Amino acid sequence: MKRTPVLKTAELILNQLKLAQGKWISGEALSTQLQVSRTAVWKHICAMKTEGYLIDSATRKGYLLREIPDLLRPQELREGLKTVCIGQGEIRYFERTDSTNLRAKAMAADGAPEGTLVIAEEQTQGRGRRGRNWFSPPGAGIYLSLIIRPDILPQEAPRFALLTATAVAEAVREITMLETRIKWPNDILVGGRKLGGILTEISMEMDKVEYMIVGLGLNVNLAREAFPPDLQELGTSIQVEMGRSLPRLPLARRILERFEETYQEYQQHGFASIRSRWQAFTDMIGRTVAVDTMGRRFTGEVMDFDEDGYLVVREHNGDPVRLFSGDVSFI
Ligand code: BTN
Repeated sequence: MKRTPVLKTAELILNQLKLAQGKWISGEALSTQLQVSRTAVWKHICAMKTEGYLIDSATRKGYLLREIPDLLRPQELREGLKTVCIGQGEIRYFERTDSTNLRAKAMAADGAPEGTLVIAEEQTQGRGRRGRNWFSPPGAGIYLSLIIRPDILPQEAPRFALLTATAVAEAVREITMLETRIKWPNDILVGGRKLGGILTEISMEMDKVEYMIVGLGLNVNLAREAFPPDLQELGTSIQVEMGRSLPRLPLARRILERFEETYQEYQQHGFASIRSRWQAFTDMIGRTVAVDTMGRRFTGEVMDFDEDGYLVVREHNGDPVRLFSGDVSFI
């Protein structure tokens, strides 16, 4: 069920300014409509200006909204978000936090419901797969974590990494027209360089998944020189690939919508169609790869991605190996 959030005065003022669609709206009209003093309206407007909203003010005319900052604020994100559950409940927003996955885990352990979203403009300890860091400079990427509570067994969890990668690759392609690809299990690539990554973490209760955190990091408005030296060759961003910056808000909304559609598809019809959507984004089958999994390294040929989301690699001695996690690189 779609929940209606309770709006604060600042959000109500912003709504009125947006509804005015580029026209002036007087302080008096705002104060009467919202039942607050004109001084209170003025104070809220001053605060919004410091947050990056471009608002003109003039005596006798009032206020006029010129520009909304490209911040992933809950109120902006929710506006026009076509989902039923994902992002419709609580959105916990941080200008800066250690890691959205860590924040989301703490909230999930406290009982936060499915669909809860944690989002940050900057992460100081963004976490990647296999203990790596995720470079998360302010305002330049999408760093978000979703709490979901799927009714699944732990062995189904690897499918969710693939499900998310599919949703993200499709949303990015739709908005940017970039040729997104997926490298198993869930690296989002453009031109062979990494644009985004997904970190799913589960908590189990008995033999069932209690909750799952789906964390996404996507490089959006970063110039090549903005990457640390060791990532300049390996990583890329939408700005680098498109040659211009891109507003993050519509992209973040589309990712959430695609995720929800794909998650519903999984719940209603299982993994089969998602698996074929995922396969359309990869060209790994038949390629020789170096595999690094559970402390073991070997080379082999990619045979398949099976119905559980596992990668099947034929070792040089001919034996097929099923992998549910690990790193692969092309040789
Ligand atoms: C990878 O190594 O490819 C996965 C990277 C996942 C990074 C995202 S950013 C938002 C969320 N919070 C984190 O600390 N990590 C994930």
